[in-house]
Amino acid sequence: MLEKLAHFNRERVPERVVHAKGAGAHGYFEVTNDLTQYTKAAFLSEVGKKTPMFIRFSTVAGELGSADTVRDPRGFAVKFYTEEGNYDIVGNNTPVFFIRDAIKFPDFIHTQKRNPQTHLKDPNAVWDFWSLSPEALHQVTILMSDRGIPATLRHMHGFGSHTFKWTNAEGDGVWIKYHFKTEQGVKNLTADVAAKIAGENPDYHTEDLFNAIEAGDFPAWKLFVQIMPLEDANTYRFDPFDVTKVWSQKDYPLIEVGRMVLDRNPENYFAEVEQATFSPGTLVPGVDVSPDKMLQGRLFAYADAHRYRVGANHNHLPINRAKSEVNSYQRDGQMRFDGNGGKSVNYEPNSFGGPTEVNEHKQAAFPVSGVAENVGYDHHDHYTQAGDLYRLMSEEERERLVANIVAAMKPVQRDDIKLRQIGHFYKADPEYGTRIAQGLGLQVPQEV
Ligand code: HEM
Repeated sequence: MLEKLAHFNRERVPERVVHAKGAGAHGYFEVTNDLTQYTKAAFLSEVGKKTPMFIRFSTVAGELGSADTVRDPRGFAVKFYTEEGNYDIVGNNTPVFFIRDAIKFPDFIHTQKRNPQTHLKDPNAVWDFWSLSPEALHQVTILMSDRGIPATLRHMHGFGSHTFKWTNAEGDGVWIKYHFKTEQGVKNLTADVAAKIAGENPDYHTEDLFNAIEAGDFPAWKLFVQIMPLEDANTYRFDPFDVTKVWSQKDYPLIEVGRMVLDRNPENYFAEVEQATFSPGTLVPGVDVSPDKMLQGRLFAYADAHRYRVGANHNHLPINRAKSEVNSYQRDGQMRFDGNGGKSVNYEPNSFGGPTEVNEHKQAAFPVSGVAENVGYDHHDHYTQAGDLYRLMSEEERERLVANIVAAMKPVQRDDIKLRQIGHFYKADPEYGTRIAQGLGLQVPQEV
């Protein structure tokens, strides 16, 4: 009895500090287009090649038991089990993000979580932060639009969001962005319907995904990339590493890469979904990162979170273990449950035939110049792309967007916060700002 009760007391591990509520599925990725001129990644080397993968979808702000149908970005984290080790694309269902400097992330997330005193969600904090961080406007417009609440996890696109680098066998690189396009079509929920579902079935999205796959109705996405020549980054009309911006598809059209199909449910939620660890730093030869400041911060944050949440040996768990041979000189640590390298040599370099570093897969050299300093972005056009998005919407879409924002901002207690935010909407498009002001019973401030 003591053993049983003691184990029971230890059943919980820390939930993810963000993206705590999620659902996962296994599947495969199949290459449909030869892009070997751009990347030497072995899993993309041949049309028809299939690679097993695992995906975890999630909401961002809520806790592990929170409702699925809330207005929030959705996490879209894909793990490819390639023959060169694992490759993770840890993206969202939106192509941009609220901030573009990693140091702001904990502050931003504090505003999305609970007030330190009331333990309630806090619209004052949300809009205070956004109104003081105008770079958030593009993502706020997406979040408050119809796309803010997907109908199911199957009916939304996925994006790598950041700029990454592909390198080919000759060592030549290109900048790329990933787009997963749903084959089910995009479908969303209105705020009213979503609120009703959240009350009746908080696990609606989780259940839908599981049931679809169980019934053999396998959801699929086509993967595309936008490709930018390296030298274009110096002259493009905005910083192409700024994650609050999208690249125009007129400048860099979508190029098909392959197709992802989800065809198998996890056998055990804890072992496969809760213990899954995705990191933007889990890369394979032929794929690299970019100078995007957010991405650079994320390269540290994820593996650190995994060591805290799952343990130093999280990569040995079946869901995280590469399906190819992996050699390292890492040994010991809590819950080292495999053979721990046995009696083999545990240092490098050595004279005993142990695995040696593979230099051919080191990042290709690239020129760096200028002064290194902790600087902000010097590019301040937060408004053009948010305004373009507004102008692309039909009148019905604009009505719902304005209604969603007005409902979300109404509980904000301070008019100065509301007015500052209205100023940003106005700068994106005067009609956009004016309609929000009217909905809140306020005047657009003079100085905008
Ligand atoms: C999860 C940090 C930005 C997508 C997480 C986790 C941390 C984190 C610590 C929990 C990891 C775990 O416990 O396994 C950060 C930081 C960011 C950032 C510091 C900015 C500097 C982003 C962006 C995206 C994103 C821009 C999407 C483009 C995700 C996803 C998950 C996640 C999908 C859930 C992964 C899973 O399903 O296990 N993030 N994040 N994050 N993040 Fe971020």
